[in-house]
Amino acid sequence: MIGGWESAVHGGLVDLHVHLLPGVDDGPASTEEAAALLEEMVNQGVKAAVCTPHMFDRRYRVPEEEVRRAFSVLREAAEDRGLTVDLYLGAEVRLTGAALDAWAAGAIPRDWGGGRYVLVELPMREIPRDWLEVAHEFLVFGVTPILAHPERYPAMVYNGALIKEWVERGGLCQVTWSSVLGTWGRGPRRRAVWMLERGLCHVMASDAHDLAKRRPDVQKALGWVREHGGEQAAEALLANARVVLAGDSAGTLRQVPWSPPRKRLLWSRSG
Ligand SMILES: [Fe+2]
Repeated sequence: MIGGWESAVHGGLVDLHVHLLPGVDDGPASTEEAAALLEEMVNQGVKAAVCTPHMFDRRYRVPEEEVRRAFSVLREAAEDRGLTVDLYLGAEVRLTGAALDAWAAGAIPRDWGGGRYVLVELPMREIPRDWLEVAHEFLVFGVTPILAHPERYPAMVYNGALIKEWVERGGLCQVTWSSVLGTWGRGPRRRAVWMLERGLCHVMASDAHDLAKRRPDVQKALGWVREHGGEQAAEALLANARVVLAGDSAGTLRQVPWSPPRKRLLWSRSG
């Protein structure tokens, strides 16, 4: 089934952040590439995915109608190939005042999360001075911003206090699955683990773009989380993604209990 609400909410792996739409941003260039990426995600166990093309990014200024057209093309391709996955349309929105105005005007796709959440990103090079104010405005509007991959912003790799402040002010954090595997380097990996250990990661998502460098390595990363943070941490992360997709309140998100399983002693001192 494509686009059904119930099946995703009742269980399974939800990917809240993926660039799947053909030809609209730095995701797949063609429908064939998009379908191949989606097929791989399905093989990885993904049951529901929110398509999140960049919006309000200087490089990608694709009109909403075009985004919706690309989404229809993707759904048709999924149906043609018999891929069993629920697809939703959202956006990865640059956190700016203009984005806030667009949200208020209903010009940002929000076919997921009951309109209660928005996935936001920041420029890689520097954190804008008003980032917390804009986030606050979203919150006042009844929308909880989810910051995409804080562990990958150089400023946040060096300064974890920025992430703590974001969460203290009511924002949520989404860590990229592949960050824990070291795909983005040692700094982002360390920061991702730091966030998980401190309960500062609420959901994880693939942010997949293709089948080459930015792959949806969900199962491998999930295995890493289970091994290093325990089964309950993995379950909480998966459950939280379902809560967000369903549009339940952020207050119902689970705390992610990071407790590394005990290591077996390989040797013991005697005598
Ligand atoms: Fe992204």
